[in-house]
Amino acid sequence: MDTTILDDSLTLKKYDREDMLTRLQEMPSLCQLAWRMAADFNLPPEYANVDKVVISGMGGSAIGGDLVTSLVATEARIPIMTCRGYQLPAFVDDRTLLIASSYSGNTEETLTAFEQALKTGAKKLAITTGGKLSTMAERRNIPVFSFDYKAQPRAALPFSLIPILCFLQKLGLISDKSREIVETVPTLEKLSRRISESVPIDRNLAKQLSVRLHQHLPVVYGAGIASEVARRWKTQLNENSKAWSFYEVFPELNHNAIVGYQFPAELAGKILVVLLRSPLLPERVLLRYQVTCQLLEQARVDYQIVDGDGDYPLGQVMSLTLFGDYVSYYLAILYQVDPSPVKAIDFLKERLARNK
Ligand code: PA5
Repeated sequence: MDTTILDDSLTLKKYDREDMLTRLQEMPSLCQLAWRMAADFNLPPEYANVDKVVISGMGGSAIGGDLVTSLVATEARIPIMTCRGYQLPAFVDDRTLLIASSYSGNTEETLTAFEQALKTGAKKLAITTGGKLSTMAERRNIPVFSFDYKAQPRAALPFSLIPILCFLQKLGLISDKSREIVETVPTLEKLSRRISESVPIDRNLAKQLSVRLHQHLPVVYGAGIASEVARRWKTQLNENSKAWSFYEVFPELNHNAIVGYQFPAELAGKILVVLLRSPLLPERVLLRYQVTCQLLEQARVDYQIVDGDGDYPLGQVMSLTLFGDYVSYYLAILYQVDPSPVKAIDFLKERLARNK
């Protein structure tokens, strides 16, 4: 494989027909825009009177909620969870903030869960570009945070993540995040300058990692604030690169996954473990990264550590996320596929719609 194709803008354009690259480049400014829009968005005052938060969504519209839950896990005074699927937890009641997040507004599982929420006294909010979700909510005067951004749902991540953070702050459920936002934008811009398409492969760590991942099975490890970023890497490698990928989370992986490095023996040389690390993680967890790397070496499994940037958790999470988004983009180019379309998902949704 001629890896210098990653430095050739014509080759990138040839495969990236829907211009995913521009979506990646826009991520820093979108974070800022999404924060501003959310800050200007008024929530009814009674929404502060909740003792749990449930974020309902699927795929690229659920991951924002996942990243929020891992970001605020150690400070939130009430439980905050994402809910994937048709069924809302039975505990959703009038003291629940129920956020339905769907880029298209037409995702079957999210709509079914939202219909259930309508039968409860939960404080409801929709985050969407439109679709049935928007119509259902507006008809009942439920607040809709709507945004207009033409992209694949997963590329609209800032709109499904940053507003939730802003709303939780507004409702007094978490601490003020404005300083973190102010730091995150330049942190992402700086990172983009290091890993963007114009930086040649010999100086570009994201391109180099995509080359290592090419024809390998990526297994992504994360912990704490980086645990849901590991999920994001996995899903971006699936959807952008059209590749198999799996993820695991510390410290749980130290209680099972490390025992399974042995078989099938021929797999060891085909796997690349990517460890997403942050200096903000607790010391004992960082020690686990070290020992796990020793175990990987003993098992002759290749690995690569990727460190986050920024002084605050949000910068760490978003920089690790953007790094992974770029890696999955470059890997798509190495596999000579368009990063944007997700034909299998479209096929599945169409088949399900036909059988209603
Ligand atoms: O990335 C994707 O295209 C999917 O994971 C979608 O986000 C998922 O199918 C849900 O659709 P939506 O985001 O429109 O609710």
